[in-house]
Amino acid sequence: MHLTHAENLPDSPYNAHLISFEYFLRYFRIINNPISSRRHYRCPDEKLEQRSVPTMLSTILYKYRIQPHRLVRIHRMRNFCNTMSTSSTLNSTASSDFHSNWASDEVVEKVRVSEAVTKPWASLMIQHSGITSGDKDAHALDLACGTGVITATIYEMTPNEKWERIKVMGSDLNETMLSQLTKRAEAGGWPEIETKVMVGMDPSLPPDTFTHAFINMGIYLMSPDTLSIAFNKLGPGGFLGVSSLASIPWYKWVFDAASRLPNPSNMPPYEDVLNKMFSGQPWAEQQFMEKSLREAGFGRVNIVEEKKRVNCGTPPQCLDMLHMPVKLVASWWPEEERDNVAKKIETELYQMFSEELEDGNMWIEMHGFVGCAWKTST
Ligand SMILES: C[S@@+](CC[C@H](N)C(=O)[O-])C[C@H]1O[C@@H](n2cnc3c(N)ncnc32)[C@H](O)[C@@H]1O
Repeated sequence: MHLTHAENLPDSPYNAHLISFEYFLRYFRIINNPISSRRHYRCPDEKLEQRSVPTMLSTILYKYRIQPHRLVRIHRMRNFCNTMSTSSTLNSTASSDFHSNWASDEVVEKVRVSEAVTKPWASLMIQHSGITSGDKDAHALDLACGTGVITATIYEMTPNEKWERIKVMGSDLNETMLSQLTKRAEAGGWPEIETKVMVGMDPSLPPDTFTHAFINMGIYLMSPDTLSIAFNKLGPGGFLGVSSLASIPWYKWVFDAASRLPNPSNMPPYEDVLNKMFSGQPWAEQQFMEKSLREAGFGRVNIVEEKKRVNCGTPPQCLDMLHMPVKLVASWWPEEERDNVAKKIETELYQMFSEELEDGNMWIEMHGFVGCAWKTST
């Protein structure tokens, strides 16, 4: 296969190009990492020799447990980083245009509405965690909490007389999400809610802080070491719940809408969207989730698969839920066209929804799974 010189790679589209490990290292310096301090690099894994740029980037980050903020871009080619999560710092040169959307105020209301599709997975994880039925005090972490569907569901599923024994920390990179959670806690009378702005899982939190941790529809937005850091922050016998999707439920809708646009050729193929949505990691595979949880140190791991038909509400509500998916797909268009393309896709979606409407609501088939993992008690 032809190996493209990195110098000649255009900014976009980049997925079709292959790059060698050696070229990769010319463009990125990995701070404090042993592989960057060697004078001559030898590709440590044959399979890494030629890969598409996003795959190379995410494989190397994952393989060497490198946090994206330690990867400094030492050359142009902004789009090398487009598939990466903002996992360690939003100011990182490795942060992507798409992922930085999570920090905006505009997205908060969309996440709140999207709870209709995230709540079923939250309920499943909470049910398996045992937190609502136990008698011991619990300290839970709701990581990448958004507007707090995990926290809200914990209190909803726990009898009021047991609320006092549950303490929850909600954390997210977006502070406005956390203020929504605080308001919700005040309105709901939830006794002990703490919030913390956290990008990914903060390694400086003391070990053994939590009895339970939940990451609902967020693991693929964080760096691969999130699970092992979470393991460290749980006490013996602690529970970690992580959810993901086996397929992208909204792809067909957005594909059909984008196909009606004048330049539909930019519409990315399913695999590319999946790759970008999951920051280059195979989070759609149950085996990957199971392996990642075991490698993080968890002794007992159980993956629970579910298919659900979920009500996405009225067409305007459903469009709100599709805000980030539409932005994700529009990121394949040139930067100056993206806002306009996103609006046009939304207009087409609205039109399609009005044609398809069932009982006044839009329904979506979801196929996902939750990883339930327990730290061995010692
Ligand atoms: C799909 S929403 C899920 C929200 C919530 N857990 C739920 O189930 O409804 C993803 C959330 O992750 C947050 N997020 C994205 N990247 C993050 C990161 N690297 N660290 C922490 N939070 C992140 C976003 O701000 C957003 O609130």
